[in-house]
Amino acid sequence: MEALSAVLALSTGFARLPIFSYLIGKFPTMRIDPFKLERYFARYEFTAPYLLSSSDCEPLDLNELLSMIHGETMKMWNVLKLGYTESQGHPELRNEISQLYQSLQPEQVMVSVPEEGIFIAMNNLLKEKDEVITTFPAYQSLYEVARSLGCRIKYWKPRYNQGWHFEVDDLEKIMSPKTRLLVINFPHNPTGATINHKQQETIADLAHARDIIIFSDEMYRYLEYDDQIRLPSMADKSELAVTLCGMSKSFALAGLRIGWLTVKNPEWLQQFMEFKDYTTICNSAPSEILALMGLKAREKILRRNHDIIRTNLARLDDFFARHENIFEWISPKAGPVAFPKLHEPLDANDFCRDLVEKKGVMLLPPKVYDFHANHFRIGFARQNLPQALEKLDEYLDKKY
Ligand SMILES: Cc1ncc(COP(=O)(O)O)c(C=O)c1O
Repeated sequence: MEALSAVLALSTGFARLPIFSYLIGKFPTMRIDPFKLERYFARYEFTAPYLLSSSDCEPLDLNELLSMIHGETMKMWNVLKLGYTESQGHPELRNEISQLYQSLQPEQVMVSVPEEGIFIAMNNLLKEKDEVITTFPAYQSLYEVARSLGCRIKYWKPRYNQGWHFEVDDLEKIMSPKTRLLVINFPHNPTGATINHKQQETIADLAHARDIIIFSDEMYRYLEYDDQIRLPSMADKSELAVTLCGMSKSFALAGLRIGWLTVKNPEWLQQFMEFKDYTTICNSAPSEILALMGLKAREKILRRNHDIIRTNLARLDDFFARHENIFEWISPKAGPVAFPKLHEPLDANDFCRDLVEKKGVMLLPPKVYDFHANHFRIGFARQNLPQALEKLDEYLDKKY
């Protein structure tokens, strides 16, 4: 023990010397860059009164959720023991989750915090020098964890032409024999774009033919404005897919911190479970039961969220029509966020910062996505959007 302490003391001492701290910084598995979007939220989310950039739907309050539930599930809540839970997730919750898919067994679901699911999957599916393709711009952890493992990242970018369009031809061009993982996220954060059924089939075929694993982030599934464009989960399209979904966005229950991975390969599932013993071990007992309630009441919750989004999108259409000289607005296809353009010479990063500081209205600047064009993220699934737009109007009237 003493010898171990001596080694540790020595090595931390060495780490303070410039050459050693440089080498430690260079070691690929030891560094992960700050999550720019989350740091920006940490700075403003709980101080700015008008959140016009959130990607979750207006959070339900506890009473609202409990009032939607009766019978057996309510009994589970009343007699709930606040002990440790089953590491893979409550069996009834996994059973309810599996019903969201056509071909999935409850045993093929691993419940975790959504963000944790990304971390666990990337750490187990990837190794140094693997090539990873990701939809871009993207929620940063979808590629940053891979980068921290020493992987090479390639970007599948949408074209901007009267809206955002991801073209499968562009994806095929950047695939190579070294590509190990394809990360996709549809409906897409931040553009609100999605792909069609045929494109999804083609992606599954391209990946299958090249033995590429697909990590499909489906956090915004069920928020398509037209049911016809809702895609089947990639879990039902490819045996090689790992998919992510959760309660945070479409189901308006982000504070539960409950999501899930679907994993059809039993070896990967075993590895993910072993890794989870080093992250959270198991899920929060009350959150699991509340998530079960949320899924049982999903039709009601989704109807409520779609109503909020539909009403707010009409308000945004009106707002952007009145400010055509400043913004270029193209309605998204799905989800609670869009990525409009700010006309130059205005700079979207400066605009977002000045707006939040002067009027308390939070939009997301492009720099948090490492995106170098003049777009910003706007979120429209919150109830106080009219008040936020009023403040934004005041700001624009004064300034331009
Ligand atoms: C595309 C995407 N994936 C995953 C997550 C992570 O979800 P959570 O914040 O609930 O862990 C987010 C959150 O914004 C997201 O936008």
